[in-house]
Amino acid sequence: MTSPSPKGIVEARAAQAHPMIALPSHDELVEQLFIRDLKQFVMAELEPAQQRIAEKLEAAIQPQASNDPVGALRGQMEQVGSFGTWLSLKRESQRQLWYAVTDCVERQAAELQALGQIDNPKGSLTIDPDFQAPDYITMGDIHLMPGGNAYDDGTLLQGAVMDRGGAVYMLGRNGGMLNDLRGQTAMAHLLTIAPDIKPDRILDMGCGIGTSTVPAALCFPDAEVHGVDVGGSMLRYAHARAEHLGAAVHFSRQSAERTSFPDASFDVVYSCAMLHETSPAAMVNILAESRRLLRPGGVAIHLEVPLLHTFGDLWQELSAELEAQFNNEPNWRGALSVDYAQMMRAAGFGDVRAGYQATAFNARLAAKKFGDTSDGVFRSWFVTSGRV
Ligand SMILES: C[S@@+](CC[C@H](N)C(=O)[O-])C[C@H]1O[C@@H](n2cnc3c(N)ncnc32)[C@H](O)[C@@H]1O
Repeated sequence: MTSPSPKGIVEARAAQAHPMIALPSHDELVEQLFIRDLKQFVMAELEPAQQRIAEKLEAAIQPQASNDPVGALRGQMEQVGSFGTWLSLKRESQRQLWYAVTDCVERQAAELQALGQIDNPKGSLTIDPDFQAPDYITMGDIHLMPGGNAYDDGTLLQGAVMDRGGAVYMLGRNGGMLNDLRGQTAMAHLLTIAPDIKPDRILDMGCGIGTSTVPAALCFPDAEVHGVDVGGSMLRYAHARAEHLGAAVHFSRQSAERTSFPDASFDVVYSCAMLHETSPAAMVNILAESRRLLRPGGVAIHLEVPLLHTFGDLWQELSAELEAQFNNEPNWRGALSVDYAQMMRAAGFGDVRAGYQATAFNARLAAKKFGDTSDGVFRSWFVTSGRV
């Protein structure tokens, strides 16, 4: 068999969504698909079985364990042999995901770095070398990704790992290799509450590799779109990815808690799946920063994973605790149980809405469905918005 020409490789990359995404060899793809299927099995088969066991145990433990019913349930579950097996598989499949994707990225590191050299960019990239990431980012590798979100070795390779890993991590449910449904959904929410809006400046906080930012630039091609994140490598990759997708975005390494942008300098400030990766104090600061940055009439949108927390549901509380502990998501439980609407009002926003926005594949074409009920995980996202 002859090797594909360099042109063929570029076309193969582009066919996957854009040329920056690491292209797996046959064996790497088989490995990644195996890990995806293993994760799916752990989530869809083993976890519900654990939930059924927990629900049987719950009735017996609640009355005598009122001080710490979650701890009591955990103690009971730890006596169940399959509980440990489930947790080990959950963590190990996640670790394997990053190792597999890292091998794939490292094999083509030189090629990806070369593709990251953009002549005449439409957007820009500003990396402050002295930037200090907040401790909730540096104290553990969120999602077990080695090196973590703030990693910066001067290359874009951690971003490449995040991109391919994210697509496998989400089991293809977040827009396949584009992985952009959160950004599309945030823009769909904006068009739901402000159908005629024509923003001049838009900011995506916690933009990561730009998967949530590019939808804003494509939805509002006349707007100046910015993305901030704490990760240097991720931002290098975000810049190259956006340029290859034809989107003009200005990326800079900054904390969303306090940015360098002037007061009242944006019409729209939004974030996608960022708040749960911060801390209770940081969430307050980020909402205050969103408020500071908005012009009169401006809109803030913060999209999060669906609120899983149901008070009194011990299994959900225990699951949240386990997610925090075994997937390094320290703020998971807090972020999924706070009253976002109340927090937005406390930050000075009016016209506050909190609910579920139907997942959009294309913000402009999507049905603008927003309401109190979730259509299910990945079919809708929890969104809180407010106006200045
Ligand atoms: C789950 S990722 C979501 C990325 C992207 N918004 C998306 O929807 O695909 C959360 C991102 O928030 C970033 N982040 C967390 N805390 C931050 C902060 N204080 N300032 C800026 N970015 C932050 C992380 O580095 C990470 O890239």
